[in-house]
Amino acid sequence: MPKESITPRARKRVAVLISGRGSNMVALIEAAKDASYPAEIALVASNRPDAAGLATARQAGIATAIVDRMTYGKDREAFERALQAVLEDHRIDLVCLAGFMRLLTPWFVAGWHGRMLNIHPALLPAFKGLHTHARALAAGVKTHGATVHFVAAEMDSGPIILQAEVPVLAGDRPETLAARVLAVEHKIYPQALRLVAEGRARAD
Ligand code: GRF
Repeated sequence: MPKESITPRARKRVAVLISGRGSNMVALIEAAKDASYPAEIALVASNRPDAAGLATARQAGIATAIVDRMTYGKDREAFERALQAVLEDHRIDLVCLAGFMRLLTPWFVAGWHGRMLNIHPALLPAFKGLHTHARALAAGVKTHGATVHFVAAEMDSGPIILQAEVPVLAGDRPETLAARVLAVEHKIYPQALRLVAEGRARAD
């Protein structure tokens, strides 16, 4: 009998969900260019047809999809069923939310339990929600940062996978602080996705 060939462990198929510029998406695409990275970016999907990151993804040769929230109006469930269908069509294993500005229902979140990640521009559990940099400055914290976590039904909660800190400096404005945080976001998101794709970080 011929010796069984050793096939390399399949890379996880990842969908990155965006609503805007997609700089974290780019960081993930760049990391996945390395053949030894345990995940490939198989799809970039957006709920907004005008998301700048869609063009960037197309230029990188990645399949894109638009699930336009306007098509579904207030019907959250119909929107999520359409999104789910796209993810299934592309045989997606893991979902990375990267500036995806739409709350997901407990039904959708439960279906992706332990397989959906989010990046948040603050050191959770501090500063959930929007305008994190302005709020961090107003609170006078000396350390701020970013968090990658598994997505749970409650917004900006769920088991933390990785965090990175940055100092808050005298004279910082929300924009200067945001830029410092974004630089570490681009480092930790690919690292966190690697941990999950390799089964080294789990939601429970
Ligand atoms: C990032 O700051 C991310 O932490 C937050 O939304 C922003 C998205 O930026 N969730 P980009 O689209 O990845 O450039």
